[in-house]
Amino acid sequence: MSMFSGLIRVMERAARKAGGRLRRDFGEVEHLQVSRKGPADFVSKADMRAERTIYDELLHARPDWGFVMEEAGVIDGDEGKPRWIVDPLDGTSNFLHGIPHFAISIAVQEPRLDGKGWGEVTAGIVYDPIQDATYWAEKTRGAWLQDARLRVSGRSRLDEALIATGAPYSGHGDFTEWSRIFGAIGPEVAGIRRFGAASLDLAYVAQGRFDGFWESGLSDWDTAAGCLLVREAGGFVSDFRGRSNPIHSAQVLAANDALHSKLHKILAGSLR
Ligand code: IPD
Ligand code: CA
Ligand code: CA
Repeated sequence: MSMFSGLIRVMERAARKAGGRLRRDFGEVEHLQVSRKGPADFVSKADMRAERTIYDELLHARPDWGFVMEEAGVIDGDEGKPRWIVDPLDGTSNFLHGIPHFAISIAVQEPRLDGKGWGEVTAGIVYDPIQDATYWAEKTRGAWLQDARLRVSGRSRLDEALIATGAPYSGHGDFTEWSRIFGAIGPEVAGIRRFGAASLDLAYVAQGRFDGFWESGLSDWDTAAGCLLVREAGGFVSDFRGRSNPIHSAQVLAANDALHSKLHKILAGSLR
């Protein structure tokens, strides 16, 4: 029996359709690597096409819902209806360089009850087209990989913990802040990884592969689905001050409860 609700099924269908195309385009990119013109243009077209596919599918299923999409921006739906938060290709640099680690992230955000803006993220999916892996979560229904329940890792010792991060890059992010945190956490833990797709970093935390994750300068479409996955897998998500918000974007620190408080202590100390 499938655990998927109607809503998750809609999201999965959209992600799989776009994911199939990304997978084919990724095969092309690997060939284009050797051409002189470079594949950047091709990748940005693949990105746009994936977003369009997701948009068409989701709009067809829920005609009155709005959108926040990385490429096309905000598209309003009917008042009082939820909206989709979409990153059609998370891990663009990996994709561009022929590294098979990228994902599609789709989340559902509810309007606030008082009508003032946007509130909680109540459903999310992170789809890895290369592994054909569907990570999904619904508020209070748990986090899942296909039909297997996910739990964050049970490790509580820093020296056993494998921690993921996202580092700043040319023209983006605060190197001083990141280096300080890296310098403080690095010596305490079993290892630090920078895999290049924030949505999958968070999915891996939900799965217990990574014991924790931190990054700043992220956007809603990077984190909306992934943070719900971590929470529903029993983990804790906060900003760098330790505050837990319904939707995180700019700063994310995610881990199981025990490691979260240890990591937060180190992180906060490094920024003082
Ligand atoms: C990026 C990836 C990366 C993170 C960046 C994001 P994109 O998203 O998630 O891991 O470090 O901050 O912008 O551009 O590949 O969709
Ligand atoms: Ca992204
Ligand atoms: Ca993207």
